[in-house]
Amino acid sequence: MTPFTWLIDQYRHLLDLPPHTARVTLHEGHTPLIPVPNLAKTLGGDFQLWIKYEGLNPTGSFKDRGMTAAISEALGRGARSVICASTGNTAASAAAYAARAGMQAIVLVPQGKVAAGKLAGAIAYGAQVVQVDGSFDEALAMVVAMTEKHPLALVNSINPYRIEGQKTSAFEICDVLGAAPDWLCLPVGNAGNITAYWAGFKQYHAHHSSGLPQVLGVQAAGSAPLVLGHPVLHPETVATAIRIGQPARGEQALQAAQESGGRIIAVSDEQILAMQKQLAGCEGIWVEPASAAGLAGLAQQIETGQLDPSGQRIVAVCTGHGMKDPDIITQGGLSLKSIPAELGALDEIIIR
Ligand code: F0G
Repeated sequence: MTPFTWLIDQYRHLLDLPPHTARVTLHEGHTPLIPVPNLAKTLGGDFQLWIKYEGLNPTGSFKDRGMTAAISEALGRGARSVICASTGNTAASAAAYAARAGMQAIVLVPQGKVAAGKLAGAIAYGAQVVQVDGSFDEALAMVVAMTEKHPLALVNSINPYRIEGQKTSAFEICDVLGAAPDWLCLPVGNAGNITAYWAGFKQYHAHHSSGLPQVLGVQAAGSAPLVLGHPVLHPETVATAIRIGQPARGEQALQAAQESGGRIIAVSDEQILAMQKQLAGCEGIWVEPASAAGLAGLAQQIETGQLDPSGQRIVAVCTGHGMKDPDIITQGGLSLKSIPAELGALDEIIIR
């Protein structure tokens, strides 16, 4: 058996973490890069497509990579409590790592707009969950103000150590492929992850001449401040994870897209849900709606001729597991067949 290596130790030479950083881990990272040839075929063109399946992290989302770093740093400098605003995944991740570290977690979430699996996670891990009658952006502003007044460690992606931890996914992709892919597609919400990937790829390239991907960042049309060029006061989308109108790292996201020769685009809720269904149905990979946005954006770009995938190596980051948001699948009502416990009745259904 290969001994366990903490993600942070594995890439320590590429991560800017202070010496006081402790070690709080749930064995995050090391997620699979899964080839999805069936999906690539339906998108058209002759190219290679992989999913970086971040939903397989310990709490079901990519946030765990950043959280192992942020909580370890906070614990190492003696912090007792952490706080964040969240559309759900950061909340669950912060709660889990804080529990592991013996710290208190306070998480602020927009009321009524958090998927069931995320809220349940945060509660199960013992966080103090506070619902805010407002948007994620308003909750984040409150959290920032609180950390200026009280000794609370902020673990949103404004925290630089979150970015350091999340860079490791770019390193893993390069390690597996032997180089950077031609394109990287991913959803964009508060814009921490796109910032982390771009920083990671640039750094890896500087050390290993791995090349650089073009970055396609994808927002939901009802929450697309980076596409519109101005904040969105009342963001809306079925992909509640990225229901954000004023991304904290918006400038850096635009810079990543521009520097890489990529772009930031928007897709509709219908496109997101259709891609979620398609990916689950043709590859057996069920991701939460926001996580299908990167792929939906890729599909849109190929369809409209704005991206020619021929001969390209493309990686789509699927940020969270489908089980985070079961309601999105069941909310329209289930049209399941019901039969008496008799073989004859089953026979009839199967034959039809
Ligand atoms: N995908 C999922 C599943 C997310 O939960 C998030 C962000 C993103 C994509 C976008 O990442 O914010 O770095 O651009 N979720 C945060 C949260 C906002 O609170 O869980 P980003």
